[in-house]
Amino acid sequence: MSIKLIAGNWKMNTSLEEANQLIDEIIKNLEDGDLSAEKKVAIIPPFPFIDLVLNKIKTIPNFYVGAQDCSPFDNGAYTGDVSAKMLKSLGVEYCIIGHSERRLHHQETNLTLSEKVEQALNNDIRPIFCCGENLEIREANQHIEFILKQLYDGLFFLPKEKIVKTIIAYEPIWAIGTGKTATSQQAQEMHAAIRNEISKNYGAEIGTYFTILYGGSCNAKNAAELFACPDVDGGLIGGASLNAADFLKIIKSLPKK
Ligand code: 13P
Repeated sequence: MSIKLIAGNWKMNTSLEEANQLIDEIIKNLEDGDLSAEKKVAIIPPFPFIDLVLNKIKTIPNFYVGAQDCSPFDNGAYTGDVSAKMLKSLGVEYCIIGHSERRLHHQETNLTLSEKVEQALNNDIRPIFCCGENLEIREANQHIEFILKQLYDGLFFLPKEKIVKTIIAYEPIWAIGTGKTATSQQAQEMHAAIRNEISKNYGAEIGTYFTILYGGSCNAKNAAELFACPDVDGGLIGGASLNAADFLKIIKSLPKK
């Protein structure tokens, strides 16, 4: 059985004070059984607040912090970049790589993404590799083919011992921040196709244990239905992770499988 994960991607939101309040509110209302070795939670704040959030959660088992991106370079004269090595030195566990907002606004190519994946893994950080199609591709019924190509380009070059450290997040672009979530059938279809491809390339055991998250307008109301899909192992949550009560409801929506 795969490990479940709920990750809150705060994107470029919150001030220092808001970040403080939000993480305090989440921690205060966590209950026994919300987290376990099979059911983990991660907060993915903006870079400047990583240390703040890490210090608050570091003694809570199965609670982690992630970064929203990392540099494709090791270190040196790359003004504005944040290296995977720096993130690891803080204690970061996960790093989102290939979010559609970065592919769009920062023209990230598949080559750059594969370099970022390598950087994260070389520094013992687990990439959360994002894939997702736009509406035009979905309407043309080419979504599965498109997603699998994104995975072959950005991730499937990895050998077995590295792929097992990665997580995939399926985030249809038409569902991100739009309030229009994928139906559970649409999510299940894609997640099953992704798992099948992992099994084909790396063997059935790795496929079975692989964590595949859904992201895109996942909220306190629709989370339970999405997480009930056999191949959906949790969520990468944007907007709803900025509200402590909603985020906690989403955490509690994971079925106790
Ligand atoms: P929303 O939950 O706001 O649609 O964002 C999803 C997302 O992009 C998470 O990475």
